[in-house]
Amino acid sequence: MLQPDARALIAQAREAARFSYSPYSGFPVGAALLCDDGSVILGTNVENRSYGLANCAERSALFAAVSRGKRTFTAIAVACPRSDVPVSPCGACRQALSEFCPPGMPVYYAGSGDQLVETTIEGLLPNDSLHDLAKENAARKKA
Ligand code: THU
Repeated sequence: MLQPDARALIAQAREAARFSYSPYSGFPVGAALLCDDGSVILGTNVENRSYGLANCAERSALFAAVSRGKRTFTAIAVACPRSDVPVSPCGACRQALSEFCPPGMPVYYAGSGDQLVETTIEGLLPNDSLHDLAKENAARKKA
């Protein structure tokens, strides 16, 4: 498999952040999710006056991709253009991404500067013993 171009993916995540709806936090975030067919699905954070309903950029990208029939992913980049430091995905997004992404999948994140952090799904969500539960359930049903 070709190694994903981390900086190109971060650039797309920054573009996605331009569409952020974040009047409450003033903290735009963009995500670029690379699919196994080479396409890239973008997402941004969408907030709400009922604060708890905010949807993060990562989950916006993931849900948009799954809604287009895409379920196999090879990398994700997250960009926070108003942060001096790179910001990693929140706990909810780590869990949501782990449903579809393999443990070794690269995750890149960046703030406004050149610093780019690279980790993996497993690095963000270690000891994920139920990672393959959906597949195991499907296999059990077939048996
Ligand atoms: N946010 C994201 O979209 N992704 C992250 O990884 C961190 C947080 C959003 C949620 C909220 O709209 C704003 O950033 C402030 O937390």
